[in-house]
Amino acid sequence: MEWIKIGLAKGRLLEEEIKLLRNIGVDCSVLTSKSRQLVFEIPENNLQVVMLKAPDVPTYVEHGIVDMGIVGKDVLLEQEKQLYEVVDLRLGKCRLSVAGKDGDTMEGKKHLRVATKYPNIAKRYFAEKVQSVEIIKQEGSVELAPILGLSDVILDIVETGNTLRANGLIVMEDVMEISARLVLNKVSYKTKKDMVRKLIERINTEVDKQS
Ligand code: PRP
Ligand code: MG
Repeated sequence: MEWIKIGLAKGRLLEEEIKLLRNIGVDCSVLTSKSRQLVFEIPENNLQVVMLKAPDVPTYVEHGIVDMGIVGKDVLLEQEKQLYEVVDLRLGKCRLSVAGKDGDTMEGKKHLRVATKYPNIAKRYFAEKVQSVEIIKQEGSVELAPILGLSDVILDIVETGNTLRANGLIVMEDVMEISARLVLNKVSYKTKKDMVRKLIERINTEVDKQS
């Protein structure tokens, strides 16, 4: 049997990803179990589902370990991997923003310290804006950095704004809108053309229906 392998980003996006698959007719009952299992087979749909950390999705897709994947545009912009971005799924909508302490300003700062999980995006964004920028790579809880004095500002995802508010931070500049994307391995697009195309079509139809 020929399988289509799809990598899903674990975390806050996962529920919406599974809902999308369910809506296009995939039997997702095995996926909703709370097990620690990471690879699932859904033979009725010729689908193998792999649960990945979001930043690993592009790597698995680029190497062809999975044929396709679902991951946020933020991760794609940070990594710039060799793959096809085929559908804006309009899920997991949020913004990438620069934030800092309420009352602080970036105006007139010659040297700006930026804490972020997105060093490449930050480097590109601030390149033309400030004379000198120091990027401090973080793995999470980025909001701590300006509060504790590690950085002047952060560049991070803002969804509800709750995390910023709870930590006395405000948005200073919006960088861009973010949403989840369906990405495709370049070889799979040729070797599994029919299966891949059909799946993309069903996903496209569903995305249009939702918006
Ligand atoms: C994300 C992001 C922000 C927060 C935004 O963090 O980095 O901190 O969510 O969401 P909100 O605007 O709705 O509060 P996450 O919870 O994924 O944790 P981490 O940064 O520690 O990985
Ligand atoms: Mg966070």
